[in-house]
Amino acid sequence: MNNKPIIALDFPSDKDVFQFLQHFNEPLFVKIGMELYMQEGPDIVRKVKEQGHDIFLDLKLHDIPNTVKSAMKGLARLGVDLVNVHAAGGKQMMEGALEGLEAGTAAGNQRAALIAVTQLTSTTEEQMQAEQKINLSLQDSVLHYAQLTKQAGLNGVVCSVHEARAIADICGEDFLRVTPGIRMLGGDTHDQKRIATPDGARQDGSSLIVVGRAITGAADPVAAYKEVCELWEEK
Ligand code: C5P
Repeated sequence: MNNKPIIALDFPSDKDVFQFLQHFNEPLFVKIGMELYMQEGPDIVRKVKEQGHDIFLDLKLHDIPNTVKSAMKGLARLGVDLVNVHAAGGKQMMEGALEGLEAGTAAGNQRAALIAVTQLTSTTEEQMQAEQKINLSLQDSVLHYAQLTKQAGLNGVVCSVHEARAIADICGEDFLRVTPGIRMLGGDTHDQKRIATPDGARQDGSSLIVVGRAITGAADPVAAYKEVCELWEEK
């Protein structure tokens, strides 16, 4: 797994995906999420993989431990590089996910890294307290989920940039902090509430950034990707 900015392929069909990918003539790290996977099924993963790209399969599994374990076994066979679950599913569920992933990885192949979503980057503290009835600050809820994820043996978490440094301090530098909610200065924030620029993310402790609309919605996606890479790599 490389540490290039991960491009979120939030497109409705494979036609749109390949139209987008044809502009790039280098291997990328891309994210396939629910929108695309629900439309195209596992074939989209195989086809994108065939083009030589690393894949973060962002399906955010959240179900009973046995179901998640079996589902992960299936996803492992697709040869993805990074997958995730919701930490809110609990420690036992996360352990099941890891077992499934290990069981489904072919001998001699590297197991996909497994991370957990803490709180979605579209969630505000007020929302979390009112709707999830979690009587903590958002930061403390995220840190709690990160520690639970670490105890379950996973490789890291999805979190906002604003929690990345504190998570590294508590869970260690090797524990991945994958951060969406990335925007360029002056860019549209859309529905994201806790955002940062690529260089801000680097400085604040992200290990990997996920960038969607700032690249896919740009007039020149290749130029936008280049700009994101430069800021991300600059330090
Ligand atoms: O377009 P944008 O850069 O906001 O896309 C962010 C991507 O990251 C989307 O695919 C979204 O589903 C995903 N994501 C997120 N927040 C999380 C986990 C994943 O925004 N906590």
